[in-house]
This record gives sequence, C-alpha cells and structure tokens, in this order.
Amino acid sequence: MTEWSGELEDADATATLGATIARALSAGVVALHGDLGAGKTTLVRGLLRARGVSGAVRSPTYTLVEPYNTPAGMVYHLDLYRLGDPEELYFLGVEELSEPGVLALIEWPERGCGVLPAVDLSVHLSHQGDGRRAWVQAHSEPGRGALEALDAGWRFAPDI
Ligand SMILES: Nc1ncnc2c1ncn2[C@@H]1O[C@H](COP(=O)(O)OP(=O)(O)OP(=O)(O)O)[C@@H](O)[C@H]1O
Ligand SMILES: [Mg+2]
Repeated sequence: MTEWSGELEDADATATLGATIARALSAGVVALHGDLGAGKTTLVRGLLRARGVSGAVRSPTYTLVEPYNTPAGMVYHLDLYRLGDPEELYFLGVEELSEPGVLALIEWPERGCGVLPAVDLSVHLSHQGDGRRAWVQAHSEPGRGALEALDAGWRFAPDI
C-alpha cells in the first residue's frame, strides 16, 4: 500500500490522524504539506499527545525546530516557513533527524528541499468545505507499514 486518503471533518479528526501516525510510525521522517491553516500543527499536536507530551505544542515559527524528549524517543517538530535558505538547516543540526529512533515532523518541507533527509511518509492536507482532506503517501518500507496500520484503524483511537 503506497497511498491513503480520508476526510477530516473537524480539528479533532486531524489530531486523531496524528495520533494514529504516532502509533504506526515510531521513527522516521514525516513531511507535512498544505497551505497556511491546513492543519499541519494540529496533526503534530495530536501525534505528540499520543507520544505522551502534555505541555503546549506550538509551531516553532521563529526557532524553526522544537525537540520533544518522549518516552519512546526524540521527536523533532520543524516549521520551515521562515527558512531563508535550505543550507541554514545545517546550523540547526539537520543530521540528527536521520539518527536511529528519531521521529521528525516537518511543516513546509519544500523550503528545505535538497538538504532534508529522505521522507518515509508525506501527508498532504487541503481545505474541503469546513473540514480538511488528508492524502498520505508512503516512500519507504516503514512508511508502507505505517499506511497499512493507518488504513486498518485510524478511526479507532481509544487512548486519546
Ligand atoms: N479537519 C479540520 N477541520 C476544520 N478545522 C481544522 C481541521 N484541522 C485543523 N483545523 C483548524 O485549522 C486551523 C489551523 O490549523 P493549524 O495551525 O494546525 O494549521 P497549519 O497547517 O499548521 O498552518 P501554518 O501553515 O500556518 O502553520 C486551526 O484553527 C485548527 O483547529
Ligand atoms: Mg503550523
């Protein structure tokens, strides 16, 4: 399975998709595509809640990267909207993103083109009426495994 799509009728559904991805992919690189306000940070918040993060989750708009030390390993949330040049990522420690056991969630990955590590899963969020549409693509073996899990049970997220 290499792609999956679904409707997200409200922000809770977007967070549930994030929580489902948290359970389906423990480490790797997730690219989050979508216009301003598409729901990328909402998805990240749902994912981090499922990983046991209880504090505030805001987009690192100015610092570009926010690390979370979770019980199941490091998660890095990047928001590259304000990245001037992809080369700046080297100063932010981009090589840490591809270390074993690390999960990287990247908003506006287009801005880091050529410097970011290979992506396992790309999530595309778009406006659809008052809600959103999600389209998820897998680009690796772990990514494909995550998609199977997502397809099997994303509506059933009993622990959030
Ligand atoms: N499925 C949904 N249906 C309706 N509203 C949603 C949905 N998902 C998220 N939202 C709402 O959309 C708004 C913007 O969400 P969010 O900040 O996550 O977007 P973003 O893609 O991170 O934007 P930016 O590019 O500015 O960082 C929030 O108010 C959020 O609650
Ligand atoms: Mg955001």
